[in-house]
Amino acid sequence: MKAILCATYGSPEVLRLADVERPTPRPNDVLIKVLATTVTASDCIVRGFKVPVAFWLPMALAVGFPAPRQPILGMEFAGEVESVGREVGAFKRGDRVFGFDNFGFGCHAEYKRISESGLVALKPVNLSDEDAAAIPFGGLLALSFLRKGQIQSGQRVLIYGASGSIGSSAVQLAKHSGATVTGVCSTRNVERVMSLGADAVIDYTQEDFTTRGERFDLILNAVGKAKARLRCERALNLGGRHVTIDDGSPKVSREDLILLKQLAESGALRPVIDRRYALEEVPEAHRYVETGHKRGSVIIRVA
Ligand SMILES: NC(=O)c1ccc[n+]([C@@H]2O[C@H](COP(=O)([O-])OP(=O)(O)OC[C@H]3O[C@@H](n4cnc5c(N)ncnc54)[C@H](OP(=O)(O)O)[C@@H]3O)[C@@H](O)[C@H]2O)c1
Repeated sequence: MKAILCATYGSPEVLRLADVERPTPRPNDVLIKVLATTVTASDCIVRGFKVPVAFWLPMALAVGFPAPRQPILGMEFAGEVESVGREVGAFKRGDRVFGFDNFGFGCHAEYKRISESGLVALKPVNLSDEDAAAIPFGGLLALSFLRKGQIQSGQRVLIYGASGSIGSSAVQLAKHSGATVTGVCSTRNVERVMSLGADAVIDYTQEDFTTRGERFDLILNAVGKAKARLRCERALNLGGRHVTIDDGSPKVSREDLILLKQLAESGALRPVIDRRYALEEVPEAHRYVETGHKRGSVIIRVA
């Protein structure tokens, strides 16, 4: 099968298209013909081994050193079940599925193997493969960190970085939780964030939200500390919480993937797609994603 290999850490130039052996499903595995996947901020971080020195050891343990343990990156997918292992009961050949394999990676390829008990579920019926592939990463991480902030109905919630993959999901999921949502983004994304259901949008190039005198119950920094270390205590209500997207690992589960499917089918969660590339253009997609200014997801068409 064709796959994009990351045989060593480095710039996007280390990525190359190759013919590799198609994975064989073990008894509990599902083999998926990948139709669409994405390049995420995390793919770029891993490819470049771009973490602060303090995180080198945990990162090396998680993804391998001196080279990636799984040389095929790509965390999320949508596709069709090609075959199943003999003990698989939940899926059958031909099922249309979507999912997320976190640091298991392997999605930048024509076929992806995942355990039946992993984060794989039937695809939202109303979404195309490309739309479905844009849901898991941003949706699961946004859910995890909004829960970490103990989001509740009626709260005033601010999403900093509301136009990215995690931020655009967080705006929609916070709205669905019954919160009043303010999104923060740059000028070109203001209308987009409003269209996701935000009650208000602040353009960070024009205004510092911490000096407006407004207060929030929950502030989610969906940009990450490396780019946006927020000093936002004065914008928090008494007992308010400030959660940053790179404080700790997200808690992701199959139940939440199924919840995202249901929210997508009800229209409460819509995919946000920026650019689309072919599989052989993954290096180009990495160059774009690592600018840190994509809107929602960058899709890779595999079929
Ligand atoms: N904890 C974890 O395990 C984990 C996993 C994955 C990712 N992360 C973190 O999550 C971050 C976001 O991921 P993502 O996929 O949502 O990224 P993304 O899609 O690239 O979005 C980045 C967002 O940041 C905004 N932004 C960039 N520079 C900014 C600045 N200087 N000030 C304010 N906003 C800025 C961008 O908006 P504009 O274009 O409008 O500026 C965009 O909304 C990653 O960079 C990473 O640090 C953590």
